[in-house]
Amino acid sequence: MLWKVTTKIPRERRGGRPCFWGGLFVVLALISGEPVASWGDDGSGSVLYRNNCISCHGAGGQGNGPAASGLHPSPPDFTDPGFWKTVTDSYLLHVITNGLGPMPGWGGTLSPLDIDNLLDYIKTFRKG
Ligand code: HEC
Repeated sequence: MLWKVTTKIPRERRGGRPCFWGGLFVVLALISGEPVASWGDDGSGSVLYRNNCISCHGAGGQGNGPAASGLHPSPPDFTDPGFWKTVTDSYLLHVITNGLGPMPGWGGTLSPLDIDNLLDYIKTFRKG
């Protein structure tokens, strides 16, 4: 019985090769960051936000990221329903693309689809 089990091991080792390449691909995708963001899946907005916006807007979208303290005006609180009542989608797409006050524009580095996904993502912070 034990002998039969041990003879199976070499076959499984040979099968491990595609696994290595699959693992390598995932690691490369994670290191470069860029390809993950442009896949355009449902998670891309959060990846883009983490890479580009979190430093000022904060992990919870409250405008309290580590780089926000010196900014005037400070970033808005995306969790505040009052903020969303004063803005429209087309206005926000325009602001993210072109910038506003201390915030740089992203139209030069991100695609319109990326910016759309970002807007969808920051809406998830809204409370009520
Ligand atoms: C360097 C810091 C910084 C970064 C990075 C940054 N923002 Fe901002 N953002 C601000 C500040 C400051 C404001 C407020 C500007 C104002 O009211 O004049 C703001 C405002 C906004 C607004 C609201 C505009 C309004 O009219 O109130 C949106 C939406 C927004 N940012 C989205 C983003 C997105 C999406 C990203 C990432 C792609 C991003 N920001 C990256 C600093 C930043």
